[in-house]
Amino acid sequence: MSRIPVILDGDPGHDDAIAWMLAKASPMLDIRAVTSVCGNQTIEKTTYNALRICTLLGIDCPVAMGRPSPLLAEPMNAPSVHGQSGLDGPKLPEPAMELSRMRSVELMAKVLRESEAPVTIVSTGPQTNVAALLLAHPELKNKIGQISLMGGGIAHGNWTPAAEFNILVDPEAAKIVFESGVPVIMSGLDVTEKALIFPADFERIRAVGNQVAGVVADWLEFFYAFHRELGYPGAPLHDPVAVVSLVRPDLLISKELCVEVETKGEYCRGATIGHDRKPANARVNLGIDRDGFADFLVEAVSTYGEGKQ
Ligand code: RIB
Ligand code: CA
Repeated sequence: MSRIPVILDGDPGHDDAIAWMLAKASPMLDIRAVTSVCGNQTIEKTTYNALRICTLLGIDCPVAMGRPSPLLAEPMNAPSVHGQSGLDGPKLPEPAMELSRMRSVELMAKVLRESEAPVTIVSTGPQTNVAALLLAHPELKNKIGQISLMGGGIAHGNWTPAAEFNILVDPEAAKIVFESGVPVIMSGLDVTEKALIFPADFERIRAVGNQVAGVVADWLEFFYAFHRELGYPGAPLHDPVAVVSLVRPDLLISKELCVEVETKGEYCRGATIGHDRKPANARVNLGIDRDGFADFLVEAVSTYGEGKQ
């Protein structure tokens, strides 16, 4: 089975970190690069978090810093959800690798140029870097096999009633991505708010007993604290669904839709409108086998030996 070359682009972020844990645990995926983007926290903080996560998980690939702000909008962070560091909670190892001298778009372009097979981009933060790559290197668009993104919500938003956080941070970037012609797999709130991991699952994960399992359980505890106050029965694991879409599509229910991003509008900026009145540009995940997803998480953390993989 030939492995899928992937670039992980995110704003870690507890759920980004768990998505990357799933990606590293999957024999199907070959992680070629990691790029940070500003979103949950500033680019400096998400970059530092990316380096520490790669060190913890044993992800051995170049890590590059993304753009310091959205394409046009002012930066917007989410300390209420992920804390001042962007990854509050368990102590993590200091980075064992140097940050690449290249910035995100340059590293992404290099990976695309050097890969024989088309590369999948797994983007779990705002689409800023992905859009910048498409704008700066149109000649490489055909080397992007697909973009599996966490973002949007056909039925509703979370940061505003209309808009989900990742899209709202950089709607212009999201519009560029959805209009690019590159196949998109969209894991929006429609599915990610059903990807609930309950406190009982946290304990199943912790009971696996290795270092990564303990850290993931602590990340879940921290991430759930914000959502428990909002009445959620569990932690909605948004970003990992973008990886599940690639390695366990059997757990998902999806529909081909045309998704259009609202970049104007006083009340609806950042909304993702899904319909079938134009040709589809995205496979939109709408449902998930929650129990199967929880089991998959437990299986993935079990692949990490003592220390990192
Ligand atoms: O709305 C959820 C998204 O916003 C997730 O990607 C989370 O990490 C935050 O970036
Ligand atoms: Ca994220």
